[in-house]
Amino acid sequence: MDADTFRAHGHQLVEWIAKYLEHSSDYPVLPRVAPGDIAAALPAHAPEHGESVDEILADFERVLVPGLTHWNHPGFFAYFAISASGPGILGDFLSSALNQQAMLWRTSPSATELEAVTLGWLRDLMGLPSTFDGVIYDTASISTLHALAAAREMKVPNVRVKGLAGRADLPPMRIYCSEHAHSSVDKAVILLGLGQDAIGHVPADKNFSMRPDALRDAIARDTRDGVLPLAVIATVGTTSATSIDPVPAIADICEAHDLWLHVDAAYGGVAAILPERRAILDGAARAHSLVVNPHKWLFVPFDLSVLYCRRMDMLRAAFTLIAEYLKTPEQGVAQNLMDTGIQLGRRFRALKLWMVLRYFGAEGIRARLAEHMRLAQLFAQWVDADPHFERLAPVPFSVVCFRAKPSRADAQGADKQGADARDEASEASIDRFNEELLDRVNASGDVFLSHTKLNKQLVLRLAIGHLRTTEAHVARAWELLRAHAAALDARSA
Ligand SMILES: Cc1ncc(COP(=O)(O)O)c(C=O)c1O
Repeated sequence: MDADTFRAHGHQLVEWIAKYLEHSSDYPVLPRVAPGDIAAALPAHAPEHGESVDEILADFERVLVPGLTHWNHPGFFAYFAISASGPGILGDFLSSALNQQAMLWRTSPSATELEAVTLGWLRDLMGLPSTFDGVIYDTASISTLHALAAAREMKVPNVRVKGLAGRADLPPMRIYCSEHAHSSVDKAVILLGLGQDAIGHVPADKNFSMRPDALRDAIARDTRDGVLPLAVIATVGTTSATSIDPVPAIADICEAHDLWLHVDAAYGGVAAILPERRAILDGAARAHSLVVNPHKWLFVPFDLSVLYCRRMDMLRAAFTLIAEYLKTPEQGVAQNLMDTGIQLGRRFRALKLWMVLRYFGAEGIRARLAEHMRLAQLFAQWVDADPHFERLAPVPFSVVCFRAKPSRADAQGADKQGADARDEASEASIDRFNEELLDRVNASGDVFLSHTKLNKQLVLRLAIGHLRTTEAHVARAWELLRAHAAALDARSA
């Protein structure tokens, strides 16, 4: 592609993107396609002869746009709502153009050094001490995998060389996390060869926070039984309820038993940028590692996850391996990012984070995060005030967990089987009611909410985190929920 062609289509695409961002709410949040529709509309084979950008973009509009789930829609309230902000998109655009491959300092001094500087800025904004160094990975799943690999390196003698298989000198091991920890912990434990049985799920209290007394008991029981405790994961902002584990009390236990403490603050951590919310990271300075995802609630386009680590020596001990062809004169003087992870090549991800932090400034970021939390509190008040709905968890951040309460919960068929069976049947019928409510509300195209389970009950989640979400969008979600709940209720009356 010559420079003029690139320029012409570049302008055309930037124009398309600007319009898309301006009018993202014109699209249905959830696409109206069935599985297989998109693949069926695409040719089975790559073209033999090159095609023009006009032809390619026409197919992009015709085939792919109708199959997009619009994460950029201000009515996107599912999972953790995220934003591709203007400065973040421009940063990603530049990063692709520059095609930096920052495995070594030499292969991109700027990418290497900007990463360290930008992660220092973010660390300071979140109130974490300078004992933490940061490294960027793609996702929190990979950050946590690396943290637990470092923990394994610290606790298991010679694991790097001898591995785990067939070793008579090693007892079974345990990694503890709350029953509400993210499934990425399980996946990391699987991949590290410890086996899923190595996970000790610690019970939570009524606010879905890990119970330190239960953690202490589990460690004592395991130690008595000859199991080797390795690490504890505390979560600040769990995936379902956004609950906060008591990090200071968990840090006390980890220090007493010399365990690696990893804090999963993938979603919630950025809230500590607000001085009045700094306390959510109390105790985190004592952790060995902490993950936070700027691609979740910091307006950086997917993907960018940061692992802060106080024991980079352990991460390096686990992963540094320098092949002959990767030796450079700067070794030992400058940082080589390939030393802190499994991947060799790495994108210039720091660029988009740098552009986001500079464009919004700390004050702009604080204002947006505070507004999201205000909107969540407002929605929670609406839920609390409506007798047809109930809230099912506290709201420490910007996610509200709730459900509709049908006026008649159907306990049919359980009449003669006692109170427990009746409760169960009625709970199942409330779940079905909420499932149907969720389907109807999401079919509107105006909003997209997702669900989870807490205390075995189906819970609807409204997650606010999008830059372009205003009170009007939250009010629209509430209006749809109330109207469809009333219609469903009238049908079953
Ligand atoms: C608390 C928590 N940790 C980790 C993850 C995994 O994030 P990623 O998609 O970046 O791997 C999530 C995802 O939502 C999460 O909520």
